[in-house]
Amino acid sequence: MKNKSLISISDYSRDDYMEIIELADHFEKNPVQKIMEGKVVATLFFEPSTRTRLSFESAVNKLGGKVIGFTDAASSSVKKGESLKDTILTVAQYADLIVMRHPVEGSARYASEVSTVPVINAGDGANQHPTQCLLDLYSIYKTQGTLENLNIFLVGDLKYGRTVHSLLQAMSNYNPTFNFVSPKQLQMPNEYKLQLDELGINYYEHEEMKENIKHADIIYVTRIQKERFSDPMDYEKLKNSYILKNKMLKDTKENLRILHPLPRVNEIHVDVDDNEKAYYFPQALNGVFTRQAIMTKILGLK
Ligand code: CP
Repeated sequence: MKNKSLISISDYSRDDYMEIIELADHFEKNPVQKIMEGKVVATLFFEPSTRTRLSFESAVNKLGGKVIGFTDAASSSVKKGESLKDTILTVAQYADLIVMRHPVEGSARYASEVSTVPVINAGDGANQHPTQCLLDLYSIYKTQGTLENLNIFLVGDLKYGRTVHSLLQAMSNYNPTFNFVSPKQLQMPNEYKLQLDELGINYYEHEEMKENIKHADIIYVTRIQKERFSDPMDYEKLKNSYILKNKMLKDTKENLRILHPLPRVNEIHVDVDDNEKAYYFPQALNGVFTRQAIMTKILGLK
């Protein structure tokens, strides 16, 4: 992992996942350590973010490093027509590590190819969100005590949802059963289903979320993403496809945990928030420890 960019979850191996999980656990127990003193991390966010950017920045601050960057490309020289290549080549002069979110699929890989410092993909369009995936793995491991043989429901926008694409690929190492719940228009793309077929992993597709959730270990809910639709009418038709309510969790398994990468719009009713099976806010906190682990591995500090 040292000095390597992290662009896709498949850049890391099963052993790497476990190293990150163990190191995240170490940082959860000791979150404040001055091991990043003298290091500068640039956060370049060409798309909005709350959790990813702020948890990276919180992680750096707790480790004694410094953060530079922008939260809106309009405040950078991109607004004057500067290319992504020139932006990255310049920022790499100022920082030891670049964390970038960009709406274009493949932009993070391109940035890593031109950059002289490692790049961490903080989300590229509908493609990948590997640090979210690693914090999801940490959250699943913490709550289930294992990553093996779990029954995982992925719910919502499975077509454009980059978090579910990364999670599917990572969890495929651990013999899961997947249940995909989505409207027909937002089904899991064939390329991911073909990957599961090749690995002999069982998956089932549903258009409804009802009795079937009784056997779930993890329900991973995602938002229907307005910003990914070219026709706003299509979004209006699909936006309320699923709303998980507290009463639906009756008779579900004791160990079930509800995850969501957030932000939530209305796909999980607020009446679920007080249920002990709701785990999405602790999951967001796990982002700090996991990102501490990722950055210190890449910088060769741990
Ligand atoms: N989970 C996630 O990526 O959230 P943000 O868009 O707020 O960063």
